[in-house]
Amino acid sequence: MIVERDDSGITEITTRRGIYIKAFDIYRDIGGFYDYGPIGLRIKRNIESVWRSLFVDKLGAMEVETSIMLPEPVLKSSGHLDTFTDPLARCLNCGATFRADKLLEKFYEEKKDFASLASIKNMSKEEIEKAILENKIKCEKCGKELKHLEDFNLLFKTSIGPFTADSGFLRPETAQGIFLDFKALSKAYPIKLPAAVAQVGKVFRNEISPRQQLIRLREFSQMETELFFDPESDRFDMNEISIEEVIKKKVEFIDAGEPKGPRSATIGMLFEEKKVPSKQFATLVYLCAEMMDEIGLPKAAWSFREIEKAELPHYSRGNVDIEIQTSYGAVEVAGIADRTNFDLKSHSEGSKNDLSILSYGKKVLPHVVEASIGLDRLMFCLLDTLVVNDRARGWKWLRLNSNVAPYKYAVFPLQHDDELEKRAHEVEHMLKEMKVRSYYSDTGSIGKRYARADEIGVPYCITIDYDTLKDRTVTIRDRDTAEQKRVRIEEI
Ligand code: GLY
Repeated sequence: MIVERDDSGITEITTRRGIYIKAFDIYRDIGGFYDYGPIGLRIKRNIESVWRSLFVDKLGAMEVETSIMLPEPVLKSSGHLDTFTDPLARCLNCGATFRADKLLEKFYEEKKDFASLASIKNMSKEEIEKAILENKIKCEKCGKELKHLEDFNLLFKTSIGPFTADSGFLRPETAQGIFLDFKALSKAYPIKLPAAVAQVGKVFRNEISPRQQLIRLREFSQMETELFFDPESDRFDMNEISIEEVIKKKVEFIDAGEPKGPRSATIGMLFEEKKVPSKQFATLVYLCAEMMDEIGLPKAAWSFREIEKAELPHYSRGNVDIEIQTSYGAVEVAGIADRTNFDLKSHSEGSKNDLSILSYGKKVLPHVVEASIGLDRLMFCLLDTLVVNDRARGWKWLRLNSNVAPYKYAVFPLQHDDELEKRAHEVEHMLKEMKVRSYYSDTGSIGKRYARADEIGVPYCITIDYDTLKDRTVTIRDRDTAEQKRVRIEEI
């Protein structure tokens, strides 16, 4: 459940430092579109690099970049044209539109009817409609009773080419391009199952009520991995990953329908209990857990959640999602889905091309498990979780680890002085030569510069002072403890 909150969280930092900015805001706030400023983009790319090191380098996925545009028949086969909808309530008096399930959530929340609130996720669209009408829920804009509900398709539609009847749609997930190309990839590369294909890219969903900053967007980035395998084969060939490391990984897990919250379990235990349906699925659970650790998300802030049958996407036989506790409540940032051979089968039929491949001499229409991670959401939740409201210091700051921080070091001359500035530039240059992310600043007092570095999550500040000129030592200030150590330049 997502609860609105006042903006006492990270908004102060993200706005002041232009980490992300509402798109087209000088014209009108349309909602659901954000731009990234230089610091935000660095953090976003660093999260993407962690993903790449795990899913592409460690798992050995082939990384591709496929078209953002999809012609209509593709989405007809994938099921998105017919089923990718949200329930919409339209006010017949003023024309305002609302996502019906979210209106109902708010209604039950205000009534403190938590049993009904919990039941919403298992409701069919017809049941949501009935509840809105029976409870006489009113338009939030003009106060008139809402009487009209419909299914709203979230695809963004356009036309391809001038004067043609060919409809195109902005892709709602990167996965489809991977399914369409899998056969071609299997011919170009010696694919033996299991084999993974991964992609990072923009996707588009015409959300009815975009909100909560980067959480519900109309344009956003996904990091997706599709792991193709033969369900009749027991092979576990996952490049650098061993089954032993997968099964012994400990995670927090919420069983479907369990109101009490997570329990600790190893992935091996979840596999035994059939909560995790295959070794391939287990591998993606493992990699997602590694990813959360490597970006520095505290263990207490997130868990896996087994998704109830009624909540499953149309292509999935089973889902385990990742949920992060934020100041907006629990937010789903990733989904691991057992897509079976649904997509390859539908595209085989739709395109009249047999998408089965030969693996170890056997003809197989592979099954697919998918790890789909929402990059913008994950970044937002990470910032929201790691913001420190430090009254002793007198400023808020971000406890980002070195993997994701926009810079690892900031380099400061103590004060304006040609010699100090020259030496500080030399140190910054040395760090850049070593490919260490760093920046130089001589603007404002040293205290102000520490504050500005802290608030964007820079782990270390290096200060060049007059002793540096004598003995080539500098002070290194640790962001988390504010302690300073004296070290020689060569030891940085
Ligand atoms: N590919 C999964 C999703 O877009 O939600």
